[in-house]
Amino acid sequence: MKFSRKLAAATCLAAMTISATAARAGDVEVLHWWTSGGEAAALNVLKKDLEGQGIGWQDMPVAGGGGTQAMTVLRARVTAGNAPTAVQMLGFDITDWAKQGALANLNDVAAEEGWDGVVPEALQKFSKYEGQWVAAPVNVHSTNWVWANKGILDDLGIAQPTTWDELVAAMQKVKDSGKVAVAHGGQAWQDATIFDAVVMATGGPDFYKSTFIDLDTEALGSDTMKEAFDRMSVIRSFVDDNFSGRDWNLASAMVINDEAAFQFMGDWAKGEFLNAGKTPGEDFLCFRFPGTQEQVTFNSDQFALFKQGDKPSAEQAALAKAIMSPSFQSAFNVVKGSVPARVDVPDTDFDACGKQGMKDLAAASSSGNLFGSMAHGHANPASVKNAMYDVITAHFNGEYDSETAVSELVSAVELAQ
Ligand code: GAL
Repeated sequence: MKFSRKLAAATCLAAMTISATAARAGDVEVLHWWTSGGEAAALNVLKKDLEGQGIGWQDMPVAGGGGTQAMTVLRARVTAGNAPTAVQMLGFDITDWAKQGALANLNDVAAEEGWDGVVPEALQKFSKYEGQWVAAPVNVHSTNWVWANKGILDDLGIAQPTTWDELVAAMQKVKDSGKVAVAHGGQAWQDATIFDAVVMATGGPDFYKSTFIDLDTEALGSDTMKEAFDRMSVIRSFVDDNFSGRDWNLASAMVINDEAAFQFMGDWAKGEFLNAGKTPGEDFLCFRFPGTQEQVTFNSDQFALFKQGDKPSAEQAALAKAIMSPSFQSAFNVVKGSVPARVDVPDTDFDACGKQGMKDLAAASSSGNLFGSMAHGHANPASVKNAMYDVITAHFNGEYDSETAVSELVSAVELAQ
């Protein structure tokens, strides 16, 4: 009996390489990169929700902001024929796995729950592949935010900056006071997160679209792109000496602990402030990166479920349904710093930053100012994104001057396609 099972398993191995191994019956195994304090608190909301429905949780955390390491672990697991049942995923990564036929079809749950009518178009573009639902979106984050220490700004008489020049003057004033102006972690995805906002602020929405989404060679190689790199050098001059390799949540902690004035980071940073007991408007400020007040560069965490058979398992279907329930979307996103992935969730329970996030998203969406984040996999596929990361980081670390960075960017993007 044992032997024949083994034999059957071996025979099936080739066919099984992209289907999930069943987690313990009644459990879901979830691969994710939510390992910071704020992220873990948000994840707990999901775990508790599922536990309440009798579904156990096998945790598979892979540390590393932005999910780069998590995606590497996922590829290794899939190659070994051992895919997790559920995986946190971003934008084009979902499309890539769906293309390979690896993801469970969620059409039945989606139809039953009316997802088509409540999930914004911009997210459906990634939740669906060839018209079929392949992922359940849990939130909408955006990257063009500034997180500021209110006490430091007040003490130095700095008003909330609304233009690039005001931001530079503010950073200079903080630096002169002896505090750190910009809390930053020198990791490729964090450099790229700042670049999202800087490119948008420098060139405006059409430029953002032609460079990051349309990958237009002329725009990528333009003087405007050189100016964006020059602005990155200015920001680089305002980070502290120990920025290299620092995790993003430790950079948030510098703003929380009165060591630094600003962090340029997506709204998952708010989860860290809340987790530390801080209040928006009193202890910290949230505002759009100067020059991008009308725009939103978004990313959405979605859960893709790896195929276990013709249909999703009962646990997978329950997970997808739980993720999309309006009450869960409110409870989870209040803690996570993001906003709901459905348009019908009231903002009642959200703090001032959350309310602004929801308002900004709706306004940007209706005025044509909503764009996928390059840094977080919503503007172009991973191959192009990673090629961009390399150039942005090399420039940030002084390996390239801005002119070289522009020409390297053009050739890296060409090669990556
Ligand atoms: C983003 C993700 C967020 C947050 C962040 C930092 O890619 O969408 O949920 O986890 O990375 O890890």
